[in-house]
Amino acid sequence: MGNIKVPYLDLKAQYQSIKPEIDAAIARVLESCQFVLGPEVAGFEQEFARYCGAAECIALNSGTSALHLALLAAGVGAGDEVITVPFTFVASVAAVIYTGARPVLVDIDPQSFTMDPAAIEAVITPRTKAILPVHLYGQTADMDPIMAVARRRGLVVIEDAAQAHGAKYKGRPAGSIGDMACFSFYPGKNLGAYGEGGAVTTSNAEYARTIRMLRDWGQDLKYHHVLRGYNYRMEGFQGAILRVKLRHLEAWTEARRTIVSHYNELLVDSGVETPTEMPWARHVYHVYTLRIEDRDGLHAALQAEGIQTGIHYPVPAHLQPAYADLGYGKGAFPRAEAAAEQVLSLPLYPELSSQAVTEVAGEVKKAVAHRTQTAVSR
Ligand SMILES: Cc1ncc(COP(=O)(O)O)c(C=O)c1O
Repeated sequence: MGNIKVPYLDLKAQYQSIKPEIDAAIARVLESCQFVLGPEVAGFEQEFARYCGAAECIALNSGTSALHLALLAAGVGAGDEVITVPFTFVASVAAVIYTGARPVLVDIDPQSFTMDPAAIEAVITPRTKAILPVHLYGQTADMDPIMAVARRRGLVVIEDAAQAHGAKYKGRPAGSIGDMACFSFYPGKNLGAYGEGGAVTTSNAEYARTIRMLRDWGQDLKYHHVLRGYNYRMEGFQGAILRVKLRHLEAWTEARRTIVSHYNELLVDSGVETPTEMPWARHVYHVYTLRIEDRDGLHAALQAEGIQTGIHYPVPAHLQPAYADLGYGKGAFPRAEAAAEQVLSLPLYPELSSQAVTEVAGEVKKAVAHRTQTAVSR
């Protein structure tokens, strides 16, 4: 792309808005030299647990590590099966494979883009250990029916809440609904570190204890390794930065929601399908995703106007070459496959100006009208 008029994301704008607080937090870590775990990480754990309505938070070095350790704490291993979705960032599926278990996929609900609870029961086998719904784009999956089937069949539920900080399901925060929940603090996330970061939240003390050990080489006492663990610890800098940013998260989420209302108003009757906030949800709009048949045409038209967009995600997990051996072919999950061909994410970040939103929506409408006209006159 030549000139970028509206970037997809602008992390510099956010840093500028909180620079003194961030700089002071970084200085505190430098002064204390507590670079790995330490008091800032412990403080963040307490504050984020409270924010999520969970008893415990275990801070880690990525969202992928969070999924990996939550699955291990649930006892998932070789020979087991975990039910998840193909329409997600690939980490949801990859983490299951890390444990030696097999990801068993079910299609999504086309309106929410999240796990279709009605599809779960049919794929449960005696080897099924857990269900891993993904709160895609910042909206929770329909958790009540998922929890009901899990309780009936004795399965552990792990929320993939990597995109859903502050999201709610019927008033309950993401991170407090399943047995465990996994968050990512990758820089572009709604709550983003200045590097890699992740966490598990849970109200189960035993899971929390196991994950704390696993993140730090499986030690219960220094150099006493009771579990085969990992080096998945959060860095002190990230803990200190996340504490600052957590204080702003609600205001940022409200800013996102205001921008989304504006986009929705401007795009009404424009020929694109705007996202649906499901009746159960407080959607936190990690991404604002349109749906349109000629997605690639709209993508190219916006790119030509200097508007950066994203595609989340162009290829569902079951059609990725790396996961071909799961044995699902094209046509296995038609709703996920259709979504992958039709979704396009518009620029969205809390600092995005109302003028930029108007400009982006205007270009979307222009491009769609132009393509419709061209199609009709052909
Ligand atoms: C749905 C989902 N799951 C898992 C992850 C993995 O998180 P991380 O990139 O922090 O490892 C991400 C982040 O990109 C994600 O979007």
